[in-house]
Amino acid sequence: MNRSDLTPDTLTYGPAPESAERALAWIAKRDGRFGHFIGGESEPPVEGEQTFSVLNPATGKPYAQASLGTAADVDRAVRAARKAQPSWWKIGGHARARHLYAITRHMQRNSRLFAVLESIDNGKPVRESRDIDIPLAIRHFSHHAGWAALTESEFAGRTPVGVCGQIIPWNFPLLMLAWKVAPAIATGNTVVLKPAEHTPMTALLFAETCAEAGLPPGVVNIVTGDGGTGAEIVGHADVDKIAFTGSTSVGREIRRRTAGTKKRLTLELGGKSPFLVFDDADLDSVVEGVVDAIWFNQGQVCCAGSRILVHEGVAAKLEAKLRVRMEKLRMGDPLDKAIDMGAIVAPVQLERIERLVAQGRSEGAEVWQPSWSAPEDGWFYPPTLCTRVASADTLAQVEIFGPVVVLMTFRSHREAVALANDTRYGLAASVWTENVNLALDVAPKIKAGTVWVNCTNVFDAAAGFGGYRESGFGREGGREGLEEYLRPEWDGRGSSGQRKRLPRDPVTPDPAFDHGRIDRTAKLYVGGRQVRPDSGYSLTVPGGNGTPLGQVGRGNRKDVRNAVEAARRAQPGWADATGYNRAQILYFVAENLDARREEFVERLAVISGRRDDANREFAESVRRLFSCAAWADKWEGRVHHTPYRNVTLAMREPMGTVGVSCPRERPLLALISLVAHPLAVGNTVVALPSEDAPLVATDLYQVLDTSDVPAGTVNIVTGHHAETLPTLAEHDGVEALWHFGDAGAARMVEEASVGNLKRTWIGPARDWLDPDQGGGPEFLHQATQVKNIWVPYGA
Ligand code: NAI
Repeated sequence: MNRSDLTPDTLTYGPAPESAERALAWIAKRDGRFGHFIGGESEPPVEGEQTFSVLNPATGKPYAQASLGTAADVDRAVRAARKAQPSWWKIGGHARARHLYAITRHMQRNSRLFAVLESIDNGKPVRESRDIDIPLAIRHFSHHAGWAALTESEFAGRTPVGVCGQIIPWNFPLLMLAWKVAPAIATGNTVVLKPAEHTPMTALLFAETCAEAGLPPGVVNIVTGDGGTGAEIVGHADVDKIAFTGSTSVGREIRRRTAGTKKRLTLELGGKSPFLVFDDADLDSVVEGVVDAIWFNQGQVCCAGSRILVHEGVAAKLEAKLRVRMEKLRMGDPLDKAIDMGAIVAPVQLERIERLVAQGRSEGAEVWQPSWSAPEDGWFYPPTLCTRVASADTLAQVEIFGPVVVLMTFRSHREAVALANDTRYGLAASVWTENVNLALDVAPKIKAGTVWVNCTNVFDAAAGFGGYRESGFGREGGREGLEEYLRPEWDGRGSSGQRKRLPRDPVTPDPAFDHGRIDRTAKLYVGGRQVRPDSGYSLTVPGGNGTPLGQVGRGNRKDVRNAVEAARRAQPGWADATGYNRAQILYFVAENLDARREEFVERLAVISGRRDDANREFAESVRRLFSCAAWADKWEGRVHHTPYRNVTLAMREPMGTVGVSCPRERPLLALISLVAHPLAVGNTVVALPSEDAPLVATDLYQVLDTSDVPAGTVNIVTGHHAETLPTLAEHDGVEALWHFGDAGAARMVEEASVGNLKRTWIGPARDWLDPDQGGGPEFLHQATQVKNIWVPYGA
């Protein structure tokens, strides 16, 4: 055989098809016929009722039938939502957080099914649904699980709006659902959601996910259908709020219909977003930016950068580079992992794109498309670059919602800003320059809800998104997004009262409880490993009735030093992890701890002699882990308005390695509070657990071991505090020391800390273990320090 027989003719990528098997099986199992999801039930479609075909944009063929929701269907859904709402609010933020967390985990488990189904339904490349839509949707539920946990503390005095009608478009079907459902239910509302008629499938899969995850019936209801069904939701008298994403014309119509009804309203509408390229921009990055701005999701993105405004000095160069790049874009089967662009959602949308481009041509635009041709089956439209366009022309003013971009030039910065703002929309913009002063000068001058600098189309659950002007009002995501789903208590339309106190878990005394069990010999936990104490000695831990409960290692100075070393090694990596990562790990700890509820409650009951206290302490410990996970991506900095031409970014940074000494009482709750808060914001910890009840800590490290907590992030040294605490307080490798142990040692701790002037926090004498008082911002404040970064601007 000759070598050339083995060598391919070209180095281009071959197809890399993703299997549709699981998604098709999911559809086939339901005979391809889908009803609504109301009151926790996926209803079978009723014989004889109206349905509509769901089409695959890549083939143009129908592959499922969905029910066309009627006024009666909408009414049933609203009733179910109304019925569920008071209880859903009253169960409290922590309980809701657990539900949202369960949804998150179920979505994660089925993420590939969601992705493939989304691509079949919408025509978008599976690479995008797999790597962008679905992970962001999951992230949204995870982030809002956190907000649910913080509702009482962060939104005190606010109450849910009630029943929310939510109407979403087809361009990001699951992601738009997540943007709507997650903040609404996190804050105690219930919802009736209608997916777009072109893309109902992932909403129906989501409905099943809610049921599987045990979401109480009626909290989420999904009614499929078209604009008529949407109009029924808008018009229903018992809906308290409408949240809509879609075209500006329908948004206007909804504004008209809800006027004077006291229904709350948020609108996320169209856009014609500018993409500004200054003459010092890195043009190769700009080209990739344009790909993300206008060819991502075939340009069917409300904030697509559809107007490139480029400095005239670099316009020709950019245009040439863009054409080269466009020739290389790959268009084809959305389930091929190697393609860049898939299909347009529906023929009506394709016709709209074709009509608007034809109109642009007739107005004098030069329309350029790559030499390759788009697939014939299904609905495809090639990437398109339009030049010789003036700002008043159709192509520069009308939202095309397809892969069509116009390129116009400017001479001065002032002209760039004027052109950028020459639109009735104001959803987003991106600014490309290597000059940070210029970027920060221009960004505030653009009238848009989001401005990206040297990037585009980036989204996250922690950042609000929404428009100025005719792009709508209201925000989705971030703290500001939650405000849209809450109203002040004094506003009479709140449908349920504010709960004054956190609910307690039910207490179930167990008379058959065995007090006399002897446990294993526990070790220290250092650098992610269970190690024997350097002293070679153990301590016996007495139980409530005097019977020994077990043995723990007697840590000494050397053990403390080893633990600090391990914590310091782990700290930079842990601080580098995103808040989202840290949140995930803390949730995982909570999940695994909860799975061992009985064992921990028994342990605590033996120590305190009171089973009801033990139940309560355990429940509050899990609640605090959830709260810390919630804060992990929300303990944000600020932007200061200093009186210069500056933005001053006040960033919160972790202290570093935090030493904590725990009190004797409430051993689990204390340990979790003192460890999880520093962890949430990027610190690593060396913990001296309760002297009276150290076995709780050694049980806990087994939970940490199975929860992806990186080695060295948490270190536990059992023993007498009198032997370990002074070393921890003196150690130069410890940046902060929290002493919640015996009050008598406070002075020693502060004196010993003088060496490296570590920040000390002597724990409050009482109340901090009370469920209503402890944890939260004060702990996070003690675990972080603020760095101010002054960034000048002004061109
Ligand atoms: P649309 O605004 O008609 O549809 C969006 C959603 O609203 C769908 O669920 C639809 O069933 C529902 N709807 C339609 N009429 C309604 C009514 N009277 N009352 C209540 N709900 C109603 O958008 P369409 O027709 O799918 O697309 C047309 C154009 O809208 C696109 O070409 C694009 O320019 C723009 N659009 C903008 C989106 C955005 O994210 N900003 C998303 C989708 C479309």
